[in-house]
Formats: sequence, C-alpha cells, structure tokens
Amino acid sequence: MKTIFLSIGFIVAMSLPLAAAGDAAKGKELYTKRCKICHADDGAGTPALQKKYGAKLLPLAGKEVQAMKDPDITKSFSEAVNHKALLKSLQPGDLDNVIAYIRTMKK
Ligand code: HEC
Repeated sequence: MKTIFLSIGFIVAMSLPLAAAGDAAKGKELYTKRCKICHADDGAGTPALQKKYGAKLLPLAGKEVQAMKDPDITKSFSEAVNHKALLKSLQPGDLDNVIAYIRTMKK
C-alpha cells in the first residue's frame, strides 16, 4: 500500500511543472532585469519609448496584448526590432516565464 501512495506522489510531483506553462515569479525577475528599462514597471512603456513608438508600442497590461494567445505574444516579441540583442541571450523557458508574468499585469 505504501508503495502505491509513494508512486502516486511521485507521478503528481513529476507532472506539476508540465501543468504550469510558465513561472510568473521567475518571469517577474527577468522582466525587472531585462524588460523594465523599456516597457516600464506597469508594461506601458517608458515615456521616451512611448514618444518614439506611439501606437506601435502596446501597453503589455492592455486589452490588445492580453487578448493575444501565448504563441502570438511570442511572435510579436520575436518580430520587434528592439528585441534582437535580447532574443539572442534568452534561455529556453524564459519567454514562457515572462509571458506568465505579463498575464499577471492584466488590470
Ligand atoms: C530596448 C528596449 C526594449 C526592451 C529591452 C524590451 N522591449 Fe519589448 N518592445 C520594445 C518596443 C519599442 C516594442 C514595439 C515596437 C516594435 O515592434 O519594435 C516592443 C514590443 C514588445 C511586445 C509586443 C507588443 C507590442 O508593443 O508590439 C512584447 C510582448 C514585448 N515587447 C515584450 C518584451 C519583454 C517580455 C521584454 C523582456 C524580456 C522586452 N519586451 C524587452 C522595446 C523593448
């Protein structure tokens, strides 16, 4: 009986990371380090970037971005000219985590 419970516990523990697409806490760390300088704390973009890009720079907490599916956010992220250097240095999983964090910005 004990082994059965142990096996069930093991299976549950192993499947937990699969259940969550990204880790919002890790995403926040990355956002603060790598994204905030341009997108600002609340995702609206710094005043300088807002001025330069206008409507091209979408507020990350806003309806338009929040309505996008994760792969669409990944796509627009990958296509943004400003992200070229950033893209090269991201580790696998970073984007999933940061998208999970962006989801928490929703107002
Ligand atoms: C050097 C400044 C800069 C940094 C750093 C940066 N971004 Fe951006 N990002 C932009 C600009 C400017 C745009 C919009 C214009 C464009 O398409 O290039 C954009 C677009 C986006 C978009 C698509 C929505 C839109 O406004 O078109 C997402 C999502 C995004 N960024 C997320 C992130 C995340 C997550 C990070 C950190 C991992 C990050 N950005 C780091 C400048 C930056």
